[in-house]
Amino acid sequence: MQLTHCLSTKNLQWTPRVHRHRLPPRTQSISAVAAAPPKARKTHSMPPEKQEVFKSLENWASKSLLPMLKPVKDCWQPQTFLPEPALPVEEFNEQVKALRERTAELPDEYFVVLVGDMITEDALPTYQTMINTLDGVRDETGASLSPWATWTRAWTAEENRHGDLLRTYLYLSGKVDMLKVETTVQYLIGAGMDPGTENNPYLGFVYTSFQERATFVSHGNTARLAKEGGDPVLARICGTIAADEKRHELAYAKIVEKLLEIDTTGAMLAISDMMQKRITMPAHLMFDGQDPQLFEHFSAVAQRMGVYTADDYADILEALIQRWGLEKLEGLTGEGRRAQDFVCGLAPRIRKLQERAEERAKKMEPHGVKFSWIFNKEIKL
Ligand SMILES: [Fe+2]
Ligand SMILES: [Fe+2]
Repeated sequence: MQLTHCLSTKNLQWTPRVHRHRLPPRTQSISAVAAAPPKARKTHSMPPEKQEVFKSLENWASKSLLPMLKPVKDCWQPQTFLPEPALPVEEFNEQVKALRERTAELPDEYFVVLVGDMITEDALPTYQTMINTLDGVRDETGASLSPWATWTRAWTAEENRHGDLLRTYLYLSGKVDMLKVETTVQYLIGAGMDPGTENNPYLGFVYTSFQERATFVSHGNTARLAKEGGDPVLARICGTIAADEKRHELAYAKIVEKLLEIDTTGAMLAISDMMQKRITMPAHLMFDGQDPQLFEHFSAVAQRMGVYTADDYADILEALIQRWGLEKLEGLTGEGRRAQDFVCGLAPRIRKLQERAEERAKKMEPHGVKFSWIFNKEIKL
């Protein structure tokens, strides 16, 4: 779920986005919790009276949102797809051996992308925290009965299976350096994320709509590549996770759809605001203790393998524009209409700039990057 290049909508240039770590790598390796200089960020940008919007939507959320969660008894669990540890040891070993044979032909690049996706899923505490920063929908007690809080906890519980399953599968494959992978997860959860959602649920739900679709696209592509590479079980795993993400996308997009219905201009401005800022990817602060540009390098591999590309970013935007009927929205204020024009005209501009960036990239010499996750083997970028 990563973009190699991001669109700067202000000056309309594609520039490699260097997500600087908050601390220089050397310092990070000494202490992952030292205070970072605070960035000036807007907070609590939703006027307090708008919290009433979310209060008034509680009935709607109970009836329309919560049924989009699956009852736990009907859910798959990581164990559904993994070797059965309760079997006699020889049979268990046979299942592990079969798993290793299936993954044997998958290329190193594939594992870089799968590890990056797994690490992104594993930083789940950060995402639950992020949703609970949102005014009017946060879980006030930790076990609040508000439908917003109920949704967030159950969504987290569904998501929690994704990282667990990918992590165990990768562990059993023997193809990755688990110590480095786990170190990256620890750094990432310690670093957090800042999607620029300003404690504002309008912005927050635009972000999650986009992001769930991005993960759907990414896991769908790792499923396709696993199938082509000879591992139908891994293909089913990634495909099953992608199906969860799709359901989550539909739920979050439904919230934004409802906001557009009851507060058209407010919701349109929120969509525009997030697209102006660009959708930052949840794992943009990843670090393995070694490569200060790990996220950019991982993104470049994902882009090259077609797992998540700048074109996908434009596709997601277009899909959401269509789902929300943004081109046909009526009753907007002047400011709302300007936001509508900006958002509805953005995808073709992104594509054009991406084409130019690709032209420039073709002229550059390929260079090798070592990934600690695959025992410092080099990948050509
Ligand atoms: Fe997920
Ligand atoms: Fe999801």
